[in-house]
Amino acid sequence: MQHTPEAATYHASPFRRDDRPLVWAHRGASAYAPENTAPAFELARRQGADGIECDVMRCGSGELVVCHDERLDRLCGIPVAVRELPLAELRRLPVLAARFPGAGGTIPTFEEAVEVAGPAMRWNVELKVDRHADAEPLARAAAAAVARLGLEERVLASSFHPLALLTLRTAAPALPTAYLWEGDGAVLGTWHRAWGRITATAAVHPEHRLVDEAAVRRWHRAGLLVNTWTVDEPEELLRLRAAGVDGVITNRPDVAIATYTP
Ligand code: G3P
Ligand code: CA
Repeated sequence: MQHTPEAATYHASPFRRDDRPLVWAHRGASAYAPENTAPAFELARRQGADGIECDVMRCGSGELVVCHDERLDRLCGIPVAVRELPLAELRRLPVLAARFPGAGGTIPTFEEAVEVAGPAMRWNVELKVDRHADAEPLARAAAAAVARLGLEERVLASSFHPLALLTLRTAAPALPTAYLWEGDGAVLGTWHRAWGRITATAAVHPEHRLVDEAAVRRWHRAGLLVNTWTVDEPEELLRLRAAGVDGVITNRPDVAIATYTP
């Protein structure tokens, strides 16, 4: 049975719902369309996702673009870093064309992604930091984009990188932040808990195998939502709902919604 969170802040959050965990489309509906592209975001909206998780970084001409990998080898088949290419060149490169022939996805700006998903979509914007020196400028660019696009009520920012989140806490103090981490042993677990307390104002985003009911209860007592990733299988989706999570980040929003729909 799902427990009731104690922290009051929690109930007012736009990033939770009472009937089931929020379903976040991981890089869009990325099981079915090229990740982090307009077709994946459009499909996430059509499948009824409550929100979209996307990865952002700055390209060679400085724009905030939506892309997971530091380099373009896997996504576009070219051995170049995203930070080295201007937007005009990035736009010409099809993403995962071999896996999704004819899908037409290319790397969008964050602004284009928001436009395609419509005015009601929530966004979990993950700040992807591959070099420490990029953390602060990236966070400042993300804070500026959120303000310029008027997305303060619809964006939850997350990162594996503490400096990116700390920068947001001063550049955009009202923007909700989530600390993100993946599986490791007990010692590093303690270290991550400490970073989470410093950097997260709204949520924690642990990898799904780190989540059980006791852990969720502890995070809730700290007033933090719990969104977990990446979960595509019905059995695990149901286990996590029973543990009390507030959101699941999934490549298959249609499967998650069907699993949670009576
Ligand atoms: O935000 C959750 C998840 O996306 C983090 O891992 O590598 O898929 O960005 P990754
Ligand atoms: Ca991500």
